Amino acid sequence: MSGMKILLLGKNGQVGWELQRSLAVLGEVVALDRLGADGLCGDLADLAGLAQTVRSVRPQVIVNAAAHTAVDKAESEPELARTLNALAPGVLAQEARQLGAWLIHYSTDYVFDGSGSAPWKETDATAPLSVYGRTKLEGEQLIAASACRHLIFRTSWVYGARGGNFARTMLRLAAEREQLTVIDDQIGAPTGADLLADVTAHAIRHVLPPMRRNDLTPSGIYHLAAAGETSWHGYARFVLQQAQEAGLALKARPEQVKPIPTSAYPTPAKRPHNSRLDTTLLQNTFGLTLPHWQVGVARLLAETL
Ligand SMILES: NC(=O)c1ccc[n+]([C@@H]2O[C@H](COP(=O)([O-])OP(=O)(O)OC[C@H]3O[C@@H](n4cnc5c(N)ncnc54)[C@H](OP(=O)(O)O)[C@@H]3O)[C@@H](O)[C@H]2O)c1
Repeated sequence: MSGMKILLLGKNGQVGWELQRSLAVLGEVVALDRLGADGLCGDLADLAGLAQTVRSVRPQVIVNAAAHTAVDKAESEPELARTLNALAPGVLAQEARQLGAWLIHYSTDYVFDGSGSAPWKETDATAPLSVYGRTKLEGEQLIAASACRHLIFRTSWVYGARGGNFARTMLRLAAEREQLTVIDDQIGAPTGADLLADVTAHAIRHVLPPMRRNDLTPSGIYHLAAAGETSWHGYARFVLQQAQEAGLALKARPEQVKPIPTSAYPTPAKRPHNSRLDTTLLQNTFGLTLPHWQVGVARLLAETL
C-alpha cells in the first residue's frame, strides 16, 4: 500500500475536511481547494487546469469532494452548477480512465423526485426536481460514460462539525426564541461528513491492492447514508433534547419545535419529500455497517456543546 497517491479535490468542504483526516493513513494525499497549490489547479470551473492537475499528479485514486452545493443558488446559475457538478467530474473521469485510476465521487438523493415513502435503491428511476439535482445526475452519467473505474456515493443531509450546520442553527434559534417552526414532511437521514470520509477510506482499501478482496468490485453507484430516518422537525427536536440533557439553557424546549409543511416555507429550489436511501448494496459489497443517524448527531453535539 505504501506509495499510494491520492488526489483530493474540495479539501475544505464538509466532506473534504474529514477526508483529509481519513485518507491520510492510506498514502500520500495531494489535497487541493479551489485556489490550488504548488502550481496545481484545484478549481472545478477550470476544466483544462483540472485535467492538467491529474496529469501532473498521476494519482492512483482521485477523490472529488468539491461541488456546487448551494441548492437554491444553483437555480439562478445553472451554467456554473453544470460546470462544477457535471462537466468537471466528467473531465476527472476521462483523466482517470487514461491513467487507470479510480475516481471516487459523491452524489445526492436529489437525483430522485422524492415521491413515495420507500427508501430509494440504486436502480430506481431518477427524476431530479432542481438544477442541483439535474447537474449532479449529469455528473453521474458522464462518469459512467467515461468507463473509468469509479465509486459514486449518493448521500443525503450531510453535516460537518466544522463551520455552520443545522444543529448549530437550531441551538442558536432556540437560545433566541421561545418557539421554532421546522419542516416535518421531508424525510431522510442526517449523515456525518466523518462517516462519509471513513466509509470512503474503507472502500478505497477494498478496491485497491493489497487489501483488494475481489478484482470485480463493481464500479458504480452506491447509496450511503446513516441508518434510520427522521424529518427536519424530528432532527431539530433531537438536537434540543440532547442540549437540554447536557444542561444548556434554551428559551425553546424540544416540545416547542412546531411542525410545518414544506409548502409553508417556499424556496427557489424544490426539494424531495422522500430522501430515504436504501444502503443494502453498500453494506453488502464493502462489508460495512452504517450506524444510526442519532449516534452521529449525538456525537457532534457532545463535541460542540
Ligand atoms: N451537503 C449535503 O447535504 C449533501 C447532500 C448530498 C450530497 N452531497 C454531496 O456531497 C459532496 C460533498 O458535499 P459537502 O457537504 O462537503 O459540501 P460543501 O461543504 O459545500 O463543500 C463543497 C466544496 O466544494 C468547493 N467548491 C465550490 N466551487 C468550487 C470550485 N469552482 N472549485 C473547487 N472547489 C469548489 C467549496 O469551496 P468554497 O467553500 O470555496 O466554495 C467547498 O469546499 C458533494 O458532491 C455534494 O453534492 C452533499
